[in-house]
Amino acid sequence: MKILAIETSCDETAIAIIEITGPKKRPVLHMLSHIVSSQAKLHAKFGGVVPNLANREHQKNLVPLLLEALKESKLLQKVSRETKNNKILNTKYLLLNTVLEREPELLKQFKKHVAPLQTPPVDTIAVTYGPGLAPALWVGVNFAKALAYLWKKSLIPVNHMEGHIFSAITNVPLTQRSPHKWNIRKIRFPALALLVSGGHTELVIMPKYGTYKLIGETRDDAAGEAFDKVARILELPYPGGPEISRFAEKGDSKKYQFPRPMINTKDYNFSFSGLKTAVFYTVRGFASSEEAKPRRLPKKDIAASFQKAVVDVLIKKTIRAAKGYKVKTILLGGGVSANKKLREELIESIKNNKLKADCRMPEAALAGDNALMIAIAAYFTGKKKAWTNVQADANLQF
Ligand code: KG4
Ligand code: ZN
Repeated sequence: MKILAIETSCDETAIAIIEITGPKKRPVLHMLSHIVSSQAKLHAKFGGVVPNLANREHQKNLVPLLLEALKESKLLQKVSRETKNNKILNTKYLLLNTVLEREPELLKQFKKHVAPLQTPPVDTIAVTYGPGLAPALWVGVNFAKALAYLWKKSLIPVNHMEGHIFSAITNVPLTQRSPHKWNIRKIRFPALALLVSGGHTELVIMPKYGTYKLIGETRDDAAGEAFDKVARILELPYPGGPEISRFAEKGDSKKYQFPRPMINTKDYNFSFSGLKTAVFYTVRGFASSEEAKPRRLPKKDIAASFQKAVVDVLIKKTIRAAKGYKVKTILLGGGVSANKKLREELIESIKNNKLKADCRMPEAALAGDNALMIAIAAYFTGKKKAWTNVQADANLQF
């Protein structure tokens, strides 16, 4: 079985193709192609993701990425004889014009480079349909619909957050074991997932594959958003997470006593907006003092103290939920799961609390948005639909 997956929920345009072989109980996953094109540099000028710019970039990127992915997977078929038969192509175009009517740039490239291709031997197409930035999601979803229509394939809509869960579950070792092939290990249930990204901070209980119960989430800023906003306060570039963690490595995390919002509340919710404000006031304090130059700011210590506050809250609540729900597996996923301190402290806390739970997290290179996780989620829990029944849902929830 071969799955082609598309991800465009934020500022990464990503396409992956996987093949699954072996018995159903012990499937073997082959990564035929895994391409992520990041727009981060472009958005950095604006200090964060600009939805309409992301939409335009996805339109520009998708067709070249698809051709590259097909080529890499050796699934690119020669141009079909149909190209010579303009009549057939023109009828195809009629509906394509409607499917991609809001993506003119993508439509142009699609007609030129994709419509003439022979149908590649993939079984189904998977696409992130939410949550995310609406203008970004539309492009990927409409592109997937156009492909499903053109190639007469089913379409599997995938929840982006479920993708992050599967990227932790499969724990794909991209940098080890060649050539990109691995046995999918099963996990023990119930599982608990801590999902931390630019738009979400969630604790999710998973009694089995495909069943999710949201037990806690952020009341205001997401963890990644807090990293991004604090980076801006410290005049560090977007995306802030990697920058803050780099600075924090050489800083003193005890130097500033930032608040740990909601750390002792009995629920499993989070709040990071007050913490960000506390950092802001600390930085402003420096600006109004004698040695007011921004370059004199103790960025490393502030970054380390801020990061420690975020990690403390995330871990405390995760451990409490793990105990409360007696979970057998703890999963960590989402862009912020690339954070070294968070990864180390989670493993350490599981040990210190003598929890008999396995811990899984993606390799740092797969913590951020990618289409491989969408393909894997589609394989495990996806439901095939007709392309006409798939719509983007920016506010999709578990
Ligand atoms: O999952 P993701 O790639 O995109 C969304 O679905 O939002 O997460 C992106 C977020 C950004 O806020 C980014 O700053 C944060 O993940 N991030 C990090 C690190 N790497 C990325 N946060 C903390 N430490 C990191 N090393
Ligand atoms: Zn994400």
